[in-house]
Amino acid sequence: MIPVNRTRSQPRSGRSWSFTGTDYSEKRKSHILGKALAAFILIIFCIVTLKQCHSQSRPSPILSTSVFSFHEPGLTHVLVTGGAGYIGSHAALRLLKDSYRVTIVDNLSRGNIGAIRVLQEQFPEPGRLQFFFADLGDAKAVNQIFAENAFDAVMHFAAVAYVGESTLEPLRYYHNITANTLVVLEAMAAYGVKTLIYSSTCATYGEPETMPITEETPQLPINPYGKAKKMAEDIILDFSKNSDMAVMILRYFNVIGSDPEGRLGEAPRPELREHGRISGACFDAASGIIPGLKVKGTDYQTADGTCIRDYIDVTDLVDAHVKALDKARPNKIGIYNVGTGKGRSVKQFVEACKKATGFNIKVEYLDRRPGDYAEVYSDPSKINNELNWTARYTDLEESLRVAWRWQRAHQNGYESSKFMSPLFRLLPRF
Ligand SMILES: NC(=O)c1ccc[n+]([C@@H]2O[C@H](COP(=O)([O-])OP(=O)(O)OC[C@H]3O[C@@H](n4cnc5c(N)ncnc54)[C@H](O)[C@@H]3O)[C@@H](O)[C@H]2O)c1
Ligand SMILES: *[C@@H]1O[C@H](CO)[C@@H](O)[C@H](O)[C@H]1NC(C)=O
Ligand SMILES: *[C@@H]1O[C@H](CO)[C@@H](O)[C@H](O)[C@H]1NC(C)=O
Ligand SMILES: *[C@@H]1O[C@H](CO)[C@@H](O)[C@H](O)[C@H]1NC(C)=O
Repeated sequence: MIPVNRTRSQPRSGRSWSFTGTDYSEKRKSHILGKALAAFILIIFCIVTLKQCHSQSRPSPILSTSVFSFHEPGLTHVLVTGGAGYIGSHAALRLLKDSYRVTIVDNLSRGNIGAIRVLQEQFPEPGRLQFFFADLGDAKAVNQIFAENAFDAVMHFAAVAYVGESTLEPLRYYHNITANTLVVLEAMAAYGVKTLIYSSTCATYGEPETMPITEETPQLPINPYGKAKKMAEDIILDFSKNSDMAVMILRYFNVIGSDPEGRLGEAPRPELREHGRISGACFDAASGIIPGLKVKGTDYQTADGTCIRDYIDVTDLVDAHVKALDKARPNKIGIYNVGTGKGRSVKQFVEACKKATGFNIKVEYLDRRPGDYAEVYSDPSKINNELNWTARYTDLEESLRVAWRWQRAHQNGYESSKFMSPLFRLLPRF
C-alpha cells in the first residue's frame, strides 16, 4: 500500500470537471427551465467526458499531461465507482478530506450530479477530483478510463441495491452487480491495479439461524440482491487466489445518517420510494409526502414484537473503508462485517425518528411481510480487532437528526439545494 501524503497536493495541470460558476438552481424560475438547463449541462458535460476533450479555456494539453495519469509517490489515487450515490459520495468526501486523489465513475442512473458538484466545490484544486460519466457495463469505456488514469486502488460501490426490486427484476441485479464487478475486475487485472475494496452486504448471509452474524456465518442469500453480491464476492475471491491483489470485502448492515456537516445526504430517485429503506420512509412520513409508516409484523419473537436490525452510520462506514484501504496488503484478503453489533427494533427506530424530526409520525401496524426475518445484527469484533475500527456514531436519534437536517434543507434532493436552503433557514425549528 502506498503511504498517504497528509498534505494536500496542488499540481498545476490536470482535468477537473468543475461545476462552479454554473449556478443554475438559483436562477431557475420554473422547475422545467431548471431541469432543461440541468439536462443541457449534463449533456455538454457527458460529451466532454466521453470524448475525452478538454475545456476550451485550456488549449488541449495531451492526455499524458493529466496528473491523474501518473502515479505520484506518497499519493494514493482511488477510483470510486458509484461515487454519485449515497455511500460512494460520502466515501469520496472522506478520501478527499484525507488528501487522497479521487476519480469517480458513475452513470447517474441512481446517483446525483448534485453530489459531484458539492465535492467539486469542496475540493476545486486541480488534481484532486475528476468525474467520468460512464456505465460500468460498458467494458470499452471502463477500459479506456483505466488506460488513461493511474489508479492505486478501487472502491467499488456502484450497484443497484434494493431487495424488493431485486425479486421483481433479477436480471437487472445480476447484470449491474455481478457482471459489472467482473468488468471492473478485468480492467484492474489488465492495468495492474492491485487493491480492491468491495461493497458487500449482510444480505449475503440470508436467514442465519444464530445471531449475531460473524464472518464465519454461512452465506445462504435468499433474494437476487444477496445472491448477486455473493457471486461478485466469489468472483473476486477466486481471482485473488491466483494474483497478488489486496482485497477487502466489507459487508455492511443497514446504513443510515449523512455527513454531520450537512454537505451530502441520501437522495434516492422518487420512483424508488416504494422499494425504499426505513429511514427514507420515516422522513417521508415526517414531511407528509406519505401519510404514515407501515410497520409490517408485530408478532416476531423479539422484545417488542417488531424486527430487529443493526443500523450503521455512513460516517462510521466510510471510516471503515479508509481503514480497510490503509491495511490492505498484496496477497491478503480481508472480509469484515461493518455494523454496530447492536440490534434496534423497528419501534425503537420509529421513536428515534419522531424525536429527531419533531413530528408525530403516524404508524400503521400490519401483518408480517413474507421474507423478513426477526433479528439481524452483526458481530463486529473482527473489524474491531484487525482494523482497529469501532462504530462511534451509535446514537440512532442523533444520526437521524443529522440526516433529517439535510432532508429538510433539500426537499427535492440535490436539485433544490441552493434554491431551498435560505427558505428553510427562515422556518421555525420544531
Ligand atoms: N444503503 C445500504 O443500506 C447498503 C447496505 C449494504 C450494502 N450496500 C452497498 O453499498 C453500495 C452503495 O449503495 P448506496 O446505498 O450508496 O446506493 P446508491 O444507489 O445511492 O449508489 C449507487 C451508485 O452507483 C451508480 N451506478 C449503478 N449502476 C451503475 C453502472 N452500471 N455504471 C455506473 N454507475 C452505476 C448509481 O448511479 C449510484 O450513484 C452498493 O454496492 C450497495 O449494494 C448498501
Ligand atoms: C446506466 O447503466 C445501465 C447499464 O448498467 C444502462 O442500462 C443505463 O442506460 C445507463 N444509464 C445512463 C443514464 O447511461
Ligand atoms: C441494469 O441492467 C439492466 C439490464 O438487465 C438495464 O436495463 C438497467 O438499465 C441497468 N441499470 C440500472 C441502474 O438498473
Ligand atoms: C486504535 O484507534 C484508537 C482510536 O482511534 C487510537 O487511539 C489507537 O491508538 C489505535 N490503536 C492502534 C493499535 O492503532
